[in-house]
Amino acid sequence: MYQEIDLDKIDISKEPPTEEPARQYYFIAKCRRYVKEFEKQLGRRLTFFTQTFGCQMNARDSEKLTGILEQIGYAADESEEADFVLYNTCTVRENANNKVYGRLGYLNGFRKKNPMMMTALCGCMMQEPLVVEKIKHSYSFVDLIFGTHNIYKFAELFCAAFENRFIANTPKKKGAMIIDIWKDTDKTVEDLPAKRKYFFKSGVNIMFGCNNFCSYCIVPYVRGRERSREAKDIIREIETLAKDGVVEIMLLGQNVNSYGRNLKEPVTFAQLLKEAEKIEGIERIRFMTSHPKDLSDELIEVMKNSKKICRHLHLPLQSGSTDILEKMNRKYTKEQYLGLVEKIKAAMPDIALTTDIIVGFPGETEADFAETMDVVRKAEFDSAFTFIYSRRTGTPAAAMENQVPEDIVKKRFDCLLKEVQEIAAGKAMKYTGSVQKVLVEHVNEQDSHLVTGRMSNNSVVHLPGTADLIGKIIEVRLTECRGFYYIGEVK
Ligand code: SAH
Ligand code: SF4
Ligand code: F3S
Repeated sequence: MYQEIDLDKIDISKEPPTEEPARQYYFIAKCRRYVKEFEKQLGRRLTFFTQTFGCQMNARDSEKLTGILEQIGYAADESEEADFVLYNTCTVRENANNKVYGRLGYLNGFRKKNPMMMTALCGCMMQEPLVVEKIKHSYSFVDLIFGTHNIYKFAELFCAAFENRFIANTPKKKGAMIIDIWKDTDKTVEDLPAKRKYFFKSGVNIMFGCNNFCSYCIVPYVRGRERSREAKDIIREIETLAKDGVVEIMLLGQNVNSYGRNLKEPVTFAQLLKEAEKIEGIERIRFMTSHPKDLSDELIEVMKNSKKICRHLHLPLQSGSTDILEKMNRKYTKEQYLGLVEKIKAAMPDIALTTDIIVGFPGETEADFAETMDVVRKAEFDSAFTFIYSRRTGTPAAAMENQVPEDIVKKRFDCLLKEVQEIAAGKAMKYTGSVQKVLVEHVNEQDSHLVTGRMSNNSVVHLPGTADLIGKIIEVRLTECRGFYYIGEVK
């Protein structure tokens, strides 16, 4: 385990080792010495700022990158005026890309004021060759670009970029951008540092990549083929987290229901959950995301019988029309989806169901949209993320005919959002007056006399309290429901 490695004892006068993760620890140790030297000269700490776009997968990757930066000796900063600024990007929709270009334009101003400032870009957007070309030409001040498959190599890449900028006698051309993007990988490196955003909860990757190729989606192209981590490595990581004070874990994968299929000794997701449940100290288990086509009866059974698996299931619908679902390559029909919802609710009446829906997929007619509205009414989602279809170059849907005009999509989107919100607000009322277990997560941003936490079903609760409650699971009486959240008091 990395906590036991004494970085200052690693001999950096030797060649770096070839095996991982030892190689990365060598580069962490090397950078650490540079940082100490520079800090002495500057008479101040070197600082870093990271910003994460996109999903939980990216958030977890950022925790790993932050862990490495802290071991290197940089101190966390809240401002983009830091000495090292890293954007971990998302490219699932076009507006995710635009946000990053906007930030880069803004950064250029800071960079001119601070000669120690380095900038780096990583994540899904960097897996697109056209993006990298654009950055090379329009944002040539960027020091380092890497992708989704080699984040474990961050210490080595950081070291190269640092030497490039600040250490004169290295062979690389001074000022040149370091770019390292891989098309895919089957490699998973264990035991690198990670710095959790919350001391009491953590994401845990159980698999990487995606094999589903939904026709609108860019994720399989930027995250590569599906590969699962060994169950024993996952369990070991959760045990370490539990010893370190974590009470809630979120198992992460693009489709957790297909976990374990490519392992030498196949394990099902339900079996993995059963093992994770046995770990002492872990009180709550969540997971994200479930593809409806692979959700098994075994999983429903394990959830039903579990005291630790949270009463929340995120089950992306995408569309309620069987025709559109076929064009999306989702591999289920409207009826199958509704049948699954019924089965889940019959097994767990208190489950909160949430979903993702895309409006305006190519060829979507009024009748198709009406089918989506029908499923929304029947499934009664507790909340839904609604998205306007975004054309992603290279995906099959981008080349489909009958792209829906913008004004029609906007109208449908507004109509869907209104329906989804009305249903969610109506459902949220139902726990008013009851006592629920709440994991307190933070002091309320608007009112420092309140703390904010979540119920097992993921509903947000605000209650009077102080910071010492953070990380604790307490019993709370829900006194009032205000739309999407509750006000409560300690029982
Ligand atoms: N693996 C997860 C989702 C990952 S992306 C799953 O299958 O559920 C998160 C959500 O973004 C998707 O569920 C989908 O609703 C949305 N999305 C993906 N590609 C999109 C696109 N091209 N346009 C609009 N929304 C998209
Ligand atoms: Fe994208 Fe579909 Fe994979 Fe989810 S399952 S990441 S929507 S291709
Ligand atoms: Fe975005 Fe990549 Fe996640 S494209 S949604 S950050 S997997």
